[in-house]
Amino acid sequence: MVFSIGAPAKLNRFLAVLGRRADGFHELELVSTVLEGVPDLTDTLSAEPAAELSLVITGPTGEGLAADESNLVLRAWRLLEEAAKRPLPAALCLEKRIPHGAGLGGGSSDAAAALRLGNRMFDLGLEDGFLLRQAARLGSDVPLFLLGGTVLGLDRGERVFPLRPIPLEPILLVHPGLYVGTPGVYRALQDVGYAFPEALGSLPEGTTPPWRNDLTGAALWVCPPLGEVRDALRDTGGEPLLCGSGSCWAARYASTTERDAAGSHLSAEHGEWRIWAV
Ligand code: C5P
Repeated sequence: MVFSIGAPAKLNRFLAVLGRRADGFHELELVSTVLEGVPDLTDTLSAEPAAELSLVITGPTGEGLAADESNLVLRAWRLLEEAAKRPLPAALCLEKRIPHGAGLGGGSSDAAAALRLGNRMFDLGLEDGFLLRQAARLGSDVPLFLLGGTVLGLDRGERVFPLRPIPLEPILLVHPGLYVGTPGVYRALQDVGYAFPEALGSLPEGTTPPWRNDLTGAALWVCPPLGEVRDALRDTGGEPLLCGSGSCWAARYASTTERDAAGSHLSAEHGEWRIWAV
C-alpha cells in the first residue's frame, strides 16, 4: 500500500522582527497562511513499505536537492524512529513543486508532511503536542504546517497558534529564479541598521494583518536584483510583499481582474519569472 500526503507552500502575510536572542535566532511575530489547494505549489510525499529507509526526489523543482540525511524529510523520519524506538523502513518519494530558497516554506512543509505520514503509516499514535515539539526541532517554520490554515507564530516563529481564517486578497506570487539564503538575510539586519520596533499592539482575531515584512531591507541589501521584481509588481498596480527572506514576492491586488491582467503582462515581459495566481 502506498501512503501519500500533500505538502503545501505558505505565505507570510505579516513578519515583524522584534529582537535578537542570545542563541542567535530572532524574536518574531508572524502571521502565515498555508496555501492549501494550490496544486502547482504543493509537494507530494509518498511512502511504501520497504526493507530499509530510502528517499528519492522527483518533480519540476527537485533538481539539485540532496536526498541524503541532511534532507528535512529524512531528519523528520529519524525523529519518528527515535520516538518509536525502532527503525521505520520505507521507500519515500518526494515530488517537488515548491521552488527552493523562495521563502515559501517548501522544505519545512515537506518535514511536517513526513512527521504526519510516518505517524499514520506506522500507526505510532504520536499526539499533536509531541509532533509540534519535534517539528520545532527541525526548523522554525515547520510547526505552522502541522496546524495549517492561518497561523500566528511567536518566539522563533515555532510557537504556533491557530487563527480564525483571514481570507486572502487576489494575489500573484512571483519567483524570479534568484536564491537568497535565510541566515544571510537575518545577519544583514545589522548591516542595514534595522531598529527593533516597540512591542506590537495585538490585532483583533480575524482582522487582516498589516502587509509587512521586516526582512525586506536586509534581503534587498543581500540581493539587490530583488528590487527589480518589486518595482515591476508595483508598476502593475500590485502591493508587493517579500515572502519570508525571499526570493519570491507576493503582490496583492484590488480585484482578480487586475491581478490576472498583471499576471499576463508580467509573463509576457519576464518569461524567466515563474508566476502563480492564488
Ligand atoms: O529555524 P530555521 O532552521 O528555519 O532557521 C534558518 C536560519 O534563519 C537560522 O539559522 C537563523 O540564521 C535564521 N533565523 C533567525 N531567527 C528566526 C528564524 C530563523 O535568525 N526566528
